Amino acid sequence: MIKLKPPQMQVFLSPQRFRLLVAGRRFGKTFLAQTELLRAAKGRGRVAWYVAPSYKQAKRIAWGPLKQLTRPYWASKPNETDLRIELAGGGTIAVRGADAYDSLRGEGIDFVVLDEYASMAPAAWHSVLRPMLADRLGEALFIGTPQGFNHFYDLYSEAEGRPGWAVFHFTTEQGGNVPQEELASAAGEMDERLYRQEFRASFEELRSGRVYWGFDRTLDVSEVEFDPRFELSWTLDFNVDPACSLLCQIVHDRIHVLDEIALSNSNTYEVCKDFFRRAQTILGSCNKRAASAIRIFGDATGDSRKSSAFKTDWEIIRGFFRDHQQIFSPHYSLPGGNPLVADRINCVNAKIVNAKGERRLTVNRRCTQLIKDLEQVCWKTDASGNKLRELDSSNPARTHASDALGYLIAQKFPMQRGVPQREF
Ligand SMILES: Nc1ncnc2c1ncn2[C@@H]1O[C@H](COP(=O)(O)OP(=O)(O)O)[C@@H](O)[C@H]1O
Ligand SMILES: [Mg+2]
Repeated sequence: MIKLKPPQMQVFLSPQRFRLLVAGRRFGKTFLAQTELLRAAKGRGRVAWYVAPSYKQAKRIAWGPLKQLTRPYWASKPNETDLRIELAGGGTIAVRGADAYDSLRGEGIDFVVLDEYASMAPAAWHSVLRPMLADRLGEALFIGTPQGFNHFYDLYSEAEGRPGWAVFHFTTEQGGNVPQEELASAAGEMDERLYRQEFRASFEELRSGRVYWGFDRTLDVSEVEFDPRFELSWTLDFNVDPACSLLCQIVHDRIHVLDEIALSNSNTYEVCKDFFRRAQTILGSCNKRAASAIRIFGDATGDSRKSSAFKTDWEIIRGFFRDHQQIFSPHYSLPGGNPLVADRINCVNAKIVNAKGERRLTVNRRCTQLIKDLEQVCWKTDASGNKLRELDSSNPARTHASDALGYLIAQKFPMQRGVPQREF
């Protein structure tokens, strides 16, 4: 027995031909979509489509639950090759991906739901799906969580108040499928803008201007120094000029950046020597009988790049710590591969200031390169001013210190625990 929640029901009961639902993650968008398909495919010869941004995603996310939901109404076993379900009443539900939208042209359809429309190629709608609705005066439901001011936002703005269209906007909380504690935990792990986008379904400009937008030197820079109750961490970016690395401490859920190494025209041997000098200064004041534990983070690709003719960066670093094992006891916290740049930045931004307003990054004022990065690193734009999902690296001095910081934070405080991954 399918029972929609009240906000899902509002959408379901709207009589408009074109409907658009903007809602937060885990609102119950896909669940609603599937219920809609079952209704739309009721009746001989009727055809209802579920379309996701890609075939792979459609199959992975929607196909299983859709079969489960429709099982009582099957006419025969679902077609696993064509992702098609024939219903006993004579209607058909099919699952499609918008990545190969040209191949979708063909028969007319009575209803289409475009799930995660913000991630979909908009041409799938304009050049293929819309024309397919024409003969049968078919209906469409657009569903998504915002992704900045892209085509989903444009459609949302145009649809508002237009005849034949209905627009709905709900937060994750209103959906009633995510417990309060889960939302609070997500708010602690995400920066405010990302949280507003993902859970409050707000259209936010995440990719323009400053990358580390929440950083504020009047709040986040201080004289923070070594606390002997916590181990020292070292995190490295392997850019050659400048080579940047940071000496940090992870103090419960906070990050203290104590010092930075930014060397021009250098190599990883020199970086290690500089680390030795600075670490000795920092640790020197403590009473040491055993080797000091050092937690090491950094760019995982440092194992493929040879910064000297003979050894990779990590080989040099491991060799250095082997030669100094009476002094340092290293623990390597390195992932198999680097996180996506956007994920790494989200993790850093969540430390700078999360959606609860907590600030958990403190930088010592001697880390001038890192401070410049946090204040100046911007998103790249192309020649026509379009925003790209890449950092602006036109100034060769920039991004490396903040990259190093990102490797540590993304490894130590990845975002998946309380935060559901974006899925369909
Ligand atoms: N009306 C409902 N009744 C029961 N469970 C629901 C309902 N709506 C959503 N859910 C469940 O809530 C979770 C999130 O729903 P989903 O449709 O995947 O969210 P979204 O697509 O918005 O991210 C899923 O486990 C789904 O089965
Ligand atoms: Mg979904």
